[in-house]
Amino acid sequence: MKKGLNILFIASEAVPFAKTGGLADVAGALPKALSGLGHNVKVIMPRYYAIDRTALEHLPGPLGVSMGPMGTLWAGLYKNVIPGSGVEVFFIDYEAFFGRSGLYADEDGFSYEDNDNRFIFLTKAAFEVAKKIDFSPDIIHCNDWHTALAPLLLKTRYSFDGLFKDTVSVLTIHNLQHQGHFFKGAVDVAEVGWEHFNPHELEAMDGMNFLKGGIAAADAVTTVSRKYAAQIQTPEYGFGLDGHIRAHSHKLYGIVNGVDYSEWNPATDGYIAANYDIDDISGKVECKRELQERFGLPQRDEVPLIGFVGRFVEQKGIGIIAAAIEKLAHLDAQFVMLGSGEKWAEGFFSDIAARYSGNFRCHVGYSEELAHKIEAGSDLFLMPSLFEPCGLNQIYSLRYGTLPIVRATGGLDDTIHNYNQATGEGNGFKFYDATPDALYATVKWACDTYRYDKDAYAAMQKRAMEARFDWKQSAEAYEDIYLNTYYSKLAARHR
Ligand code: ADP
Ligand code: GLC
Repeated sequence: MKKGLNILFIASEAVPFAKTGGLADVAGALPKALSGLGHNVKVIMPRYYAIDRTALEHLPGPLGVSMGPMGTLWAGLYKNVIPGSGVEVFFIDYEAFFGRSGLYADEDGFSYEDNDNRFIFLTKAAFEVAKKIDFSPDIIHCNDWHTALAPLLLKTRYSFDGLFKDTVSVLTIHNLQHQGHFFKGAVDVAEVGWEHFNPHELEAMDGMNFLKGGIAAADAVTTVSRKYAAQIQTPEYGFGLDGHIRAHSHKLYGIVNGVDYSEWNPATDGYIAANYDIDDISGKVECKRELQERFGLPQRDEVPLIGFVGRFVEQKGIGIIAAAIEKLAHLDAQFVMLGSGEKWAEGFFSDIAARYSGNFRCHVGYSEELAHKIEAGSDLFLMPSLFEPCGLNQIYSLRYGTLPIVRATGGLDDTIHNYNQATGEGNGFKFYDATPDALYATVKWACDTYRYDKDAYAAMQKRAMEARFDWKQSAEAYEDIYLNTYYSKLAARHR
């Protein structure tokens, strides 16, 4: 039995180098946890404009990446490590593709038109890096549509290379909504062969669908919670791929994400006004007061303060918050929102904050510091997502003793247990219908519990703070899948 696996981990973003969402948190933490289990992990990602070259080690010689009709393009290669670990990260440097202000889209939110070429380039470059550093991966682990062509590239272009002869591929779906759907000409750039352009592999609505092809070709497919693994097999959550996923469900697994507690821990958090922990939670009220002051809200200890941090996109339920806002604004509660994304939402929530400045505040933008302050200073955390593959903020909230109010979907449903008034059990508040009324009623219920049922609230808070979502546990689940997949492929080959 193999001990340390060689794992080539490819992602379009990873903390602390580049982040737009939870994928970056996972790509920064999972490789570290896998390395902690004794595996040898190399991470591959782009060198975006914002990643300072001078902070990286430059590796000699350009990296040639064949791009079909575009010929061979030559990339620079840089290296660093994930802080606090020995995990090497290789950065693909190609100014024309990655030297832009956004990761996937321009400032106005329009996706870059050459995203197909950009991410085919990244994915092929990952194989070229392995060749260059003579790293023979047992596992290629790719993430979301950006790198989803890796399994098919492995089977077609790279299987002939001895370095990859025993390699198996694992694809993790962090979000099925984004599939990488492009003009079919991208098949030529990917150089995977037109025989794979068929309705069971790459083809979808006469275009090329990266994720669909990846699901077909991968040796194992995972997603980031059990519930979401089940949901994506249904038309409601399948974004048109539910049938395709059902056809491959024998190799589909759900593994919930972990949390990097070295970063998200109220006992050590450097961003918050006072540190606190389960044994002495008194610092939390100081965090609340500072948050109120920072956002210009009246400093009232007894009023329930509800936080929201997230991308302003439909997925996050901002539409139902907006539809419920007038009613919410009339509750005796305070709301603090942090996020950016769709322009209507940025304008709408800022306007509301101007109208109800006594109990509603919104900061449009991205701020690590404010995200931590909101987790610590809020009493309740709102996540009314329409769908949520895993969700990280509700798990951070638990650790900070900030009880989540969530819609029961995907990872939110798996990680949050509804308050049961009869038994006192639970670690948060759930609602089921994606409607403004259901959201409002549940926010009100949570506020009433905070105000009038202090013992029950405190008991839930304790339970929430005790729960642990360690990456080690999740990494072990990935390890099982890696090993099973690796050995079953090996066995099949020798049969
Ligand atoms: P998703 O990946 O769908 O955006 P997750 O809950 O998995 O959702 O992860 C979101 C991550 O991005 C969390 O770490 C969250 O704190 C962070 N985040 C989102 N928006 C902001 C923001 N405006 N400022 C700071 N952090 C943010
Ligand atoms: C996606 C999902 C989110 C998940 C994250 C990390 O962006 O929207 O639910 O937590 O990926 O897996």
